[in-house]
Amino acid sequence: MSDRRNLLDLEGWSAADITAMLDLAVHLREQHQTNGKLDLLHGQSVITLFYENSTRTRVSFELAAKALGADVANMTATGSSVEKGESLLDTIKTLDAMGPSVIVMRHHASGAAETAAGWCRAAMVNAGDGWHAHPTQALLDALTLREQWGDFAGKRIVIVGDIQHSRVARSNCWSLTALGAEVILCGPPTLLPATFAAAYPDRAVSVEYDLSHALERANAVMVLRLQKERMDGGFLPSLREYRRDYGLTPERLAPYPDLPVLHPGPMNEGIEIDPAIAHGATSRIERQVANGVAVRMAVLAWAAGAVDLPQGQEVTYGKK
Ligand code: CP
Repeated sequence: MSDRRNLLDLEGWSAADITAMLDLAVHLREQHQTNGKLDLLHGQSVITLFYENSTRTRVSFELAAKALGADVANMTATGSSVEKGESLLDTIKTLDAMGPSVIVMRHHASGAAETAAGWCRAAMVNAGDGWHAHPTQALLDALTLREQWGDFAGKRIVIVGDIQHSRVARSNCWSLTALGAEVILCGPPTLLPATFAAAYPDRAVSVEYDLSHALERANAVMVLRLQKERMDGGFLPSLREYRRDYGLTPERLAPYPDLPVLHPGPMNEGIEIDPAIAHGATSRIERQVANGVAVRMAVLAWAAGAVDLPQGQEVTYGKK
């Protein structure tokens, strides 16, 4: 079997890499639905370490690890020795000494997962680091869009909202363009610098400040949460103006009754998205959540070295 592997971001991942991971996710979900708990990670342990709050990422990693037969320990900074002042280095080394195959970490500092990966023998899976990356979110978004579109070629997705503070937008720019789609970023200039797309040279990423214009070209729209906790003020005149110009409302979507709507969650309903859209017929938000479990099964199995990604071949995996 292969060595353990880190998943820190999707920069550098090819269409074949991502497609193979999505195929693995679909395969493992089918295996789990047919056979119940799998034994790919039997006898191994996974630790989730969250320095920031989470609902869907943390729970889906736990469910995914258990579906693969792993033992799981969950730790949040709150209530742990982090509150007594224990450093990230000592926390990682302490957890790593317990012998997990994989540590899944969310941290408020960009680059924390990469730094921590250098300190441990366990595979490191980034569950979101600051504004930088959220690779498993981007993978589940890609799986959701693949179910919708079939093929990414010639497709355009509008990502609207607080792009500046969004690790989801950054990881999606890498993955969706690698797969062949075009990404149109949309938001107020204070939350979407004109130079943002320059971080993705040779990728089909563009900036559009008018949401109505952006939607005219869209095959799907992804709404981002307004991250109030990452704002020191001054980014927006008011939430009312933000909703008026960038909120996804039934009125704004009326010309596009079939347009799929995604949101990574959690949502500020009534601000960036109206409840009627979030829970309406074209919403794919609950499907994103469901796909999160399948994608995280694939990522954990791959990171632990239990499976490889056989590109271009039928996916068949035996027991480890
Ligand atoms: N999308 C996402 O990361 O959600 P959580 O913060 O609930 O994990």
